[in-house]
Amino acid sequence: MTSSRLQMLERLASGLGPKGFTRDPATMAPWLEDWRKRYRGSAAALLSPATTEEVVQIVRLCAAERVALVPQGGNTSMVAGATPSRDGDALLLSLRRMNQVRSISAASNSAVCEAGVILSALHEAAGAVGRRFPLSLGAKGSATIGGLISTNAGGTQVLRFGTMRGLVQGIEAVLPDGTLYSGLSALKKDNRGYDLKQLLIGAEGTLGVVTAASLRLVPAIGSRSVAWIGLDTPGQALELLLMLEASMGEAVESFELVPGAALDLVLAHVPNTRAPLAGAHPWHVLLEATAPMVAPSPEKALTAALHAASQAGLVRDAVIASSEGQADALWRLRDSISEAEQKDGPAAKHDVSVEVGGMPGFMVEAAAAVEARFTGTRVIAFGHLGDGNVHFNVRAPEGAGPDWMKHDAPIITSFVHDLVVAAGGSISAEHGIGQMRLAELGRLGEPARLKVLRAIKDALDPNGIMNPGKLVPPPGPTQRSLASAPLRP
Ligand code: MLT
Ligand code: ZN
Repeated sequence: MTSSRLQMLERLASGLGPKGFTRDPATMAPWLEDWRKRYRGSAAALLSPATTEEVVQIVRLCAAERVALVPQGGNTSMVAGATPSRDGDALLLSLRRMNQVRSISAASNSAVCEAGVILSALHEAAGAVGRRFPLSLGAKGSATIGGLISTNAGGTQVLRFGTMRGLVQGIEAVLPDGTLYSGLSALKKDNRGYDLKQLLIGAEGTLGVVTAASLRLVPAIGSRSVAWIGLDTPGQALELLLMLEASMGEAVESFELVPGAALDLVLAHVPNTRAPLAGAHPWHVLLEATAPMVAPSPEKALTAALHAASQAGLVRDAVIASSEGQADALWRLRDSISEAEQKDGPAAKHDVSVEVGGMPGFMVEAAAAVEARFTGTRVIAFGHLGDGNVHFNVRAPEGAGPDWMKHDAPIITSFVHDLVVAAGGSISAEHGIGQMRLAELGRLGEPARLKVLRAIKDALDPNGIMNPGKLVPPPGPTQRSLASAPLRP
């Protein structure tokens, strides 16, 4: 390490104090690996500032010395977006100590949270003032507001409330040269040109460090009804959604598709789970409908709608949770799919979207094409059907060797992504690009999109210090599709 780098680290250590600076390998180790344990990096130090002012000082110093910074929240990125590279040059910048809800107002339906606030803590804070923050996902106990913003997280209520893009009203961030952008005001109308807030949302820390945000809250719900439904095809599931929306409107907040095979994995690998319906079904839907405080519970309308759907031949069987405990147990089945898959064995995972109406057809045809081309594989596609987004995961054949992930999975991924692009869809619906999808975005991104991504990155971060190697594919030759490459014998 050069002496100027050592001096810089000493300055950071004395400025941040022992709680804010460490080079201890054991303390740093858990944060240097992504949660799927597929990427491991290295860093010169772990910085944990407690205030925005400290973040400004860190970024200024790094800009002057041209040292890379990798911002990190709960470290639950699905695409290794918060894992540093292996060279060990970067500094890992954890926002977890910045965990204050600075203010919360029921009157203006908003909360100002620092980047390190954990999603479930925001849920509680909002509940305490009779409001709620309407975005939830499986990692709510560890995902942070800064990470959710930087990845434009989606989750299970996008159907009604949209992604983080629709829920962030203002942002405070430190730009790559150390300039503080104080844009926390929750302005409903603001037409002063390019929207810096929207540029930072989903930027994966490549354009600056989000330190706080003003977030939209909505009235707390009065009641909810959660149903588990067995049916035959994804096409019927979408028809059911349209029918429910026609009769219940915005009451339907979540509509998650679960194949029978995914439910089986959950029942096999996740303790204290049990099948919600008596019989086995090829497909299932988990649905949540809500009603505001003074309105009647949605249960009656839901029961009637499900009855009509059953008469129309769309529904095979259904159960509506009769208590909050049962409702939580149904959600647990859905939220545990990733965990169960991970325990079951290797899979090539994809997070894809096509237009909502085209998703059932895409799922069925793409699964057939994959299973025909890659003998022994099994597709398990699940998730946010109402958003046109499923996690299209291809499980390794029985007895696949240890090299399957390294050799065969990338070939399968090329094959799946080629199908997605041919269907006019996106190869990253909600997880982002990070490191994992970088080469594929470079291969398949439209030239105009790539040109704009690179131009914005160069304009705001000309020295490339903010989360290098993520999101923005470097210019130059890209790899070809591997879709027709031979598999390992
Ligand atoms: C989910 O919807 O459960 C997560 O986004 C999925 C995943 O683990 O792929
Ligand atoms: Zn998802």
